[in-house]
Amino acid sequence: MRISYESLVFGFVLLFSECSTLWFMSEINASSSSSSIFCIEHERQALLKFKASFKDPSTSYRLSTWKGRDCCQWQDFEYDMEADEVNPSLLKLKYLSYLDLSGKNFHASPVPMFLGSMKQLTHLFLSRSNFSGSIPHNLGNLTNLVLLDLRGIRHLQIDDGIQWISQLQSLQHLDMSYVNLSKAHTLFQVLNMLPSLLQLHLRDCELDNFLESPFLNAFQNMTSLRVLDLSRNNLNSTPLWLEKCNHLVELHLSGNKLDGSIPNALRNLTSLAQLDLSFNNFISPIPSWFFEIYNCNLRVLDLSGNKFSGHLPSWLGKFDKLRTIDLSSNSFIGPIPSSLGNLSNLVELWLSGNHLNGTIPDSFIQLVNLRSLHLEDNNLDGVFPDFLLRDLLSLNKLSLSNNNFHGVLPANTIGQLVNLTSLNLSFNRFHGNIPKSLEKLVNLEYLDLSYNHFSGVIPQSLGQLVHLDIVFLRRNNLQGNIPESFDHIRYLDLSSNALEGSISKLNFSAQSCFYLDLSDNHITGQLPENISDLMPNLLQLFLGKNLINGSIPKSLCKMENLYNLDLSKNKLSGEIPNCWRKGQSSCVINLSSNKLTGAIPSSIGNLDSLASLHLNDNSLQGELPLSMKNLKNLMVLDLGENQFSGTIPTWMMDSCPLLHILRLRQNNFSGNIPSQLCQLSRLQILDLGSNNLLGPIPDCIGNLNAMAFKNSSDNAIMPLATSYRYFELSLSVEWNREELKQVMKGRELDYTSNLQFLVNLDLSNNNFSGSIPEGITALTGLQGLNLSHNHLFGEIPERIGDMKSLESIDFSQNHLSGTIPNSMSKLTGLGHMNLSYNNLSGKIPRESQLLTLDNPLFYIGNPYLCGEPLQKKCPGEEVDQALAESNGEEDEDGKHDDLEKIWFYFVVAVGYATGFWISIGLLFFKKNWRHAYFRWGEKVADKIYVSIALKAAKVKKMMEGNSVDE
Ligand SMILES: *[C@@H]1O[C@H](CO)[C@@H](O)[C@H](O)[C@H]1NC(C)=O
Ligand SMILES: *[C@@H]1O[C@H](CO)[C@@H](O)[C@H](O)[C@H]1NC(C)=O
Ligand SMILES: *[C@@H]1O[C@H](CO)[C@@H](O)[C@H](O)[C@H]1NC(C)=O
Ligand SMILES: *[C@@H]1O[C@H](CO)[C@@H](O)[C@H](O)[C@H]1NC(C)=O
Repeated sequence: MRISYESLVFGFVLLFSECSTLWFMSEINASSSSSSIFCIEHERQALLKFKASFKDPSTSYRLSTWKGRDCCQWQDFEYDMEADEVNPSLLKLKYLSYLDLSGKNFHASPVPMFLGSMKQLTHLFLSRSNFSGSIPHNLGNLTNLVLLDLRGIRHLQIDDGIQWISQLQSLQHLDMSYVNLSKAHTLFQVLNMLPSLLQLHLRDCELDNFLESPFLNAFQNMTSLRVLDLSRNNLNSTPLWLEKCNHLVELHLSGNKLDGSIPNALRNLTSLAQLDLSFNNFISPIPSWFFEIYNCNLRVLDLSGNKFSGHLPSWLGKFDKLRTIDLSSNSFIGPIPSSLGNLSNLVELWLSGNHLNGTIPDSFIQLVNLRSLHLEDNNLDGVFPDFLLRDLLSLNKLSLSNNNFHGVLPANTIGQLVNLTSLNLSFNRFHGNIPKSLEKLVNLEYLDLSYNHFSGVIPQSLGQLVHLDIVFLRRNNLQGNIPESFDHIRYLDLSSNALEGSISKLNFSAQSCFYLDLSDNHITGQLPENISDLMPNLLQLFLGKNLINGSIPKSLCKMENLYNLDLSKNKLSGEIPNCWRKGQSSCVINLSSNKLTGAIPSSIGNLDSLASLHLNDNSLQGELPLSMKNLKNLMVLDLGENQFSGTIPTWMMDSCPLLHILRLRQNNFSGNIPSQLCQLSRLQILDLGSNNLLGPIPDCIGNLNAMAFKNSSDNAIMPLATSYRYFELSLSVEWNREELKQVMKGRELDYTSNLQFLVNLDLSNNNFSGSIPEGITALTGLQGLNLSHNHLFGEIPERIGDMKSLESIDFSQNHLSGTIPNSMSKLTGLGHMNLSYNNLSGKIPRESQLLTLDNPLFYIGNPYLCGEPLQKKCPGEEVDQALAESNGEEDEDGKHDDLEKIWFYFVVAVGYATGFWISIGLLFFKKNWRHAYFRWGEKVADKIYVSIALKAAKVKKMMEGNSVDE
C-alpha cells in the first residue's frame, strides 16, 4: 500500500478531506435516514471549541466555512494557523479515526497526552506542527494505528527511548524524517518488532552506521519493507539486511556518505521501481549489472551528484519503463547515446552538469512523452534543435543553458512548443532577434535568454503571456524600449543591453514586481516621485550604470521590503533624502558615482538592517552623522571620493563589529587613526588613502584578525560553498559580490564578486609619521600593503617576510632608511613592489622572489641603494650584465601580466559560479541549484519561505529534493 500523502504534507492540508473516514460516520449511519446529513450536536460543539482554540480564526478563510450544521462541508483551515495547544475537545470525537494536525503551529507545546487514549485512530499526522518535548509513550496504546507521521517535528526529543513504537502492531507506515534519532541506538531492533511495516521514512535523522548488524537475519521483519527512505543521513555503508529486502519498490539513499562502487547488496533488489542514490560519492562507471537486474521494473533512476564517469552506457536506452533519469552533476564525458531516444516512456531527463559533448541525438524525436529536458552545463553544441519542436509537444521545461549552442532561434517552429513553462537558453552563442513567435508559448512562466548575442528589440507581445513571471535577458545586444507589456513580470532582468527610454515613463503599474534589474543600459529620465506606489512590493531594484538624472525621490523610503537598492553610476543630483525609517528592510544601498551633494542624512541610522552602504564618488560633505552608530549590521562602508571631513569616528569601532570593508579614501578626514580601530576583527579591507590623517600608525594594527588569515579560496570556489553563500546572501547581503575599487599592484582595479578573497591595507597619501610598526607583520593574510606618500621613517620591519600573502607592497615616497630586509625574498607571491624615493641603503637583496622584481623604477630615489637592478654598483662589484638586465625586465613584465591574468581569471571563475542569479526565481527550475542547497537548503527552507514572501508550495517541494513524482 502506498499512501500518497506527500502532497498533503506539503500542500495545504485538508484536515477533513475525507469526511467518510471521520468521526461521526457510524453514528450517522445508525441515526440518520434523511437525505441531509448533519453532525451529532455534541461533536459539532467539540469541533467549534477546537476551532475557537486557534488564534485569529477570523483571518482564516477556510475556518469561516465552519458554520451551519453540516460539518462535512467544513474545510480544513490554513497550514500555519496557531494555537497554544491541541484542544482536548477532540476527545469528544469518539469515532475519529483520521487526525491530521500537520503544519499547525502549537507554539512548542508538548504533544498532548490525550492523543494516546484515542484508540480508534488509524491515521495520525503530526508533521511540521510546532511541538516540543518528548513524545508521550502512551501513543504506543494506539494499536489500530496504520500510519504515524512525525515528520519534521523540530524540537522533538527521543532521548527517553522509542520502545513504545514497537507496540504499534498495525503500523504500516512510519515517518520520522527530520527528527534527530542519533541517540536512538535500538532504533532498528524496535522497528523490527513491527510485523506490518511497509513504509519507513527516516530522512535526515542524523543516523550513523549503528544500524549495521553483523547478523543478516536479525532484521527479518524489516525485509518485507516496500519503501525505505534513509536519505540525508551519515551512512557510509548500506545496511547488510538490505540485500534481503527483495520486495523493496522504493529505495532512497541520497545524501549519505556512500562511496566506491554501487554496493552489491543492491543486486538483489529486483523489484525496485525507484532508486535514488544521488549525492553520495560513488565513483567509476555505472556497473553493467544494472541493466540485468533493473531492466524490468525501474521507473525512476537518480544517480545525480556523484562522481560517476566515463561514457553514458548505451544500454540505458533499454530500460523501457523508465520515466525519470537523473544523471546530472557527475563527470560523464562523450556524446549523448542515441539509444536514449528509445525510452519512449521517458518524462524527465536530467543530464546537466557533466562534460557531454556533440549534438543532441536525432533519435530524441521519439521521446514523445518527454516533459523535462535538462542538458545545461555541458559542452554540447549545434544549432537550436529544430527537430525537437516538431514532435515533443509535451515538453514543458527545456534547459540548454551553458553549452555551445549557436545560430538563430527558428522563428517559425519555436512557437509550437505550446506546453513550455520554462525555457532556459542562457550562456550560449545564439544570435539574431528574439522571435516574436515566442508569444505563442501561452504557458510560459520562465524565460532566460541571458548571456547570448540576441539583438534587435524585445517583442512587445512577450509581455502578453499572462503566466510569464520571470524574464532574464541580461547581457545581450538588445535595443529599443522596454516593452510596456512587461509590467506584470515579477522578476525582470534586462541589464547589460543597450535599452533606451525614460525611467519616468516606465509603466510599472503592477503591484507584483519583486525584482527589477535594468542596470547597464541607456535609460534616461528621472525616477518617478511615486515609485513606492508603482512597485510597492519590490525587493530588489538595480538601475545602476544608466543615464538617470534628477534627485532621489523621497518615496523610496516608503518601500519597506526593498532590501537591495542600486542607483550607482547615474547622474543623480541633489541631496540624499532624509526620510529613512525604522522597520525598512534595506540591506544594501548603493548610490555611488553620481553627483549627490550635501551630508549623509541622520535618518540613515534608522536602517538597522543596513549591511552595505556605498556612497563613494559623489560630492558629499560634512561629518558622518552620529546616528550611524546604530548601523550594527554594517559590513561594507564605502565613502571614498567625496569631501567628508572630521576625524575617523570612534563609535564605528564599538558599534559596527561586523565591518569587513571600510573605505574612506580621497576625502578630507583628519586626525589620528584611533586605536579602537584595531578592534574591528572582521576588517579585511581598510582604505584610508588620500586624506589628511596624521600621527603614527598604531602598533595594535596587527590585531586586525581578519587580515591575519588568508581566506581559503579553494573552499569558496566549490559549487556547494558558493551556492550556499549565494543563497544565504540573497536573503541578506552579498558583501563579497559588491563592486569596490582598490589600488593593487600600482593601479586601480575594480573588484567584483571576489571580495572575500581580497585583503588590503591602504594608508597612502596622508601625513602619517613614525615608523612602520613591527605589529603590522602579524597581518599574514594581507595581500596589498600601501603606505606610500607619507612621512614614515625608520627601517622596514625585519619580519616583513612573515607576511606570506603579500602580492603588492608600496612604501614609496617616505623617509625609510636602513637596508632592504633579506626576508622580503621569501614573499613568493609578491608581484609588485615600490620602494622608490626613500633613504634606503646597502645592497638590494637578489634572492628568490626579489630576483623577479627587477624593475629599477621600484628602487630609484634611494641614493645609497646599490646593486642590481640599479645601474649603481655596490662597492667592489664589477660591471658586466647589461644584457641580462634587459632580459630580466621583459621577464618581469611577462610575469606581472600572467599574475594579473590568473587573478582576473579567478575573478571571472568565481563570478561565474556565483553568477548574477540573485533572484530566487531560478530555484524553481535549476536543479543544479537544488543540488547545491542540499542539506543546508531544507533546514532554512521555512525561513526563506517567509523572508522572500514567495508563498508558493513549489519552493518547498523543490527543497524537498527527491520528489520525483510529477
Ligand atoms: C497506555 O500506555 C501507558 C504507558 O505507555 C500505560 O501506563 C497505560 O496503562 C495505557 N493505557 C491504556 C488505557 O491502555
Ligand atoms: C518480528 O515481529 C514479530 C512481531 O512483533 C516478533 O514477534 C518477532 O520477534 C520479530 N522478528 C524478529 C526477528 O525480531
Ligand atoms: C543476493 O544475491 C546473491 C547473488 O546475486 C546471492 O548469492 C545471495 O544469496 C542473495 N542474498 C539474499 C539474501 O537473497
Ligand atoms: C568529445 O570529447 C572527447 C574528450 O572528452 C573528445 O575526444 C571528442 O573528440 C569530443 N567530441 C566532439 C564531437 O567534440
